[in-house]
Amino acid sequence: MSRLASALLALATAAAVAVAVAARPAVDVTATVAFGEGYTPLFGFDNILRSADDRTVSLLLDRTTGSGFISSAMYQHGFFSASIKLPSDYTAGVVVAFYTSNGDVFPKTHDELDFEFLGNIRGKPWRMQTNMYGNGSVSRGREERYVLPFDPTTEFHRYSILWARDAVVFYVDDVPVRHLRHARAGRDFPAKPMSLYATVWDASNWATSGGRYRVDYHYGPFVASFTDLALAGCRASSPTEEGCADALAASDPAVMTLAKQQAMRQFRERNMVYSYCYDTRRYPVPFPECDLVESERSRFKDSGHRLALRRRRVGRRPPNKADM
Ligand SMILES: *[C@@H]1O[C@H](CO)[C@@H](O)[C@H](O)[C@H]1NC(C)=O
Repeated sequence: MSRLASALLALATAAAVAVAVAARPAVDVTATVAFGEGYTPLFGFDNILRSADDRTVSLLLDRTTGSGFISSAMYQHGFFSASIKLPSDYTAGVVVAFYTSNGDVFPKTHDELDFEFLGNIRGKPWRMQTNMYGNGSVSRGREERYVLPFDPTTEFHRYSILWARDAVVFYVDDVPVRHLRHARAGRDFPAKPMSLYATVWDASNWATSGGRYRVDYHYGPFVASFTDLALAGCRASSPTEEGCADALAASDPAVMTLAKQQAMRQFRERNMVYSYCYDTRRYPVPFPECDLVESERSRFKDSGHRLALRRRRVGRRPPNKADM
């Protein structure tokens, strides 16, 4: 090949690559990855079971150890998601967590966004907790707790954390359950690169009725399974980070349509059983991001706990005459 021809070919190739890069969305919130493409075992290596196709991973907690995995990269904003099936039967003291954090890198000023699932005694439902810390705001826990409108131990359900520049949205399946705006949360809003973590561990000291019920290993091993793993994140300190954050801000999970706001309100009305916003014993002055709705406030005690929850729509008992 002549010098000119090879130069032209190089130019054409470069142009083709540039077009391909430009055409590819900077962030694809629908893509899922195999475990090995995005994650690394973190602890309890023998208790991490990967499926043959590497798209499902089970984390076990037994007498010897819990287990966990971490994303191989750190992200500055992203959409992190997994379909999760929780351990069934007696799970008091067991915690399954799916969260972003940078506590290993910034121990004093860490950021964190959490889904935590708190096990229970037999016949009582798992509770789900969400939380946020920013820049080491560990003295200002922003816990909210919910019951789920389905049994999370029989099928996989999708749990997602959208962390964009302006807001964080937690999703259960396609329903937003919590929306935290940067402008309202201010300096407590996560602002530094984070990794994604999934863990199962023994939280006997606090998870169930404040530690009254401990993990009973007769019912173990406790198995939490994760699939549909999504890591649509903006790689920290990569040249495309800014464009990626823009794309993320415009992506579906970041857009709170009226219908989504309505679905979120309904989920919270029906399922939220604790909110830091109503916990005036702990926080006499509410946080700037709290929308204190008077009709909602009347359903909570000053400890932040729900007075009495309407009967769960998905019950294990068939309805009796008195209910009809
Ligand atoms: C984060 O916290 C540190 C130490 O408390 C403080 O010096 C710094 O200004 C904070 N950063 C932001 C962005 O608020």
